[in-house]
Amino acid sequence: MSTSRRTFLQRAAAVGAAALAGHSFLPASLKASARAAGGPLVIASGNGLAAVAKAMEIIQQGSDALDGVIAGVNINENDPNDVSVGYGGLPNEDGVVELDSAVMHGPNHMAGAVASLRNIKNPSKVARMVMERTDHVLLVGEGALRFARAHGFKEEDLLTDRSREAWLKWKENMSKEDAWLPAHGDSDSAKDIGDLFEPYMKYTGTIHCSAIDKQGNISCVTTTSGLAWKISGRVGDSPIIGAGLYCDNEVGAAGSTGRGEANLISCNSVMIVEWMRAGKSPEEACLTACKRVVEKNRQRRLQDDQGRPAFNVSFYALNKKGEHASASIWDQKQYAVHDGTSARLLPGAYLYKK
Ligand code: GLY
Repeated sequence: MSTSRRTFLQRAAAVGAAALAGHSFLPASLKASARAAGGPLVIASGNGLAAVAKAMEIIQQGSDALDGVIAGVNINENDPNDVSVGYGGLPNEDGVVELDSAVMHGPNHMAGAVASLRNIKNPSKVARMVMERTDHVLLVGEGALRFARAHGFKEEDLLTDRSREAWLKWKENMSKEDAWLPAHGDSDSAKDIGDLFEPYMKYTGTIHCSAIDKQGNISCVTTTSGLAWKISGRVGDSPIIGAGLYCDNEVGAAGSTGRGEANLISCNSVMIVEWMRAGKSPEEACLTACKRVVEKNRQRRLQDDQGRPAFNVSFYALNKKGEHASASIWDQKQYAVHDGTSARLLPGAYLYKK
């Protein structure tokens, strides 16, 4: 048994013992602070340090949590250097960027989403528009683009030179049998892509952001360019309510990043919120979600030589009291938090160490 696995089991036993003894197991970093119960509070995936700062700035001005989280993730969507989200996201197998996003608003328990959206930099804003200006929850592909156009969203080419070159290297190194040839002296270019984008089996990214505003209301958003080199039209977990994100204004919010296919078949964001409703802490709920992905991952091609997932999925959660956590299947990944004092990265829990 790996050390981290043993540590996890020991921690799990400690959680149970502490719960029985009526003591809180949570470290200080995960406890609600002395500020007003619950909020304001913003959490995000590890690429969301600037996002939580922006979201908190807006929430501190008295805005709704949804305004804050969308403004926060817009930073990543607009950033050409974040190759997992919005503008500059890694494209599909045809070299076209296709974006997925969803928002969920706690106070009126409504949601909106778009999937396989092309040419629009901020899919999270279109997702909000779907929620507010249609009788639907999810629009996809050409219909989503027409809807965005109708609301005045500007179309633009989302492929940066950096993402196009990464795609071209992938394309040219796919097969020795096809007609795409790598540049002379560039036969090891698959490694260069790895150096650029730190692959973990395949390239996934995404930002999730959840918040509690000054009124104690909860909202969340997830936005992504999805799996790099995907088949055109592939939709991951991010825009699927209950999978890539979920919130309940009376309980809390949750979201995910990582291999969407693994989360789509077990809808862990809604499960995390329901586990928190039943009394689990955010960390316990996120770890339970990780274990659920492991248990349901039964295809040999998606397992390592010890039967563990050959991919990663991370979860993020906050509850109404202002407790928060993240957990991943693999390794201690950081997540971003702003509790009204400062934006910082905290270590998440995990099941296995690489
Ligand atoms: N979790 C993001 C995706 O798989 O598209």
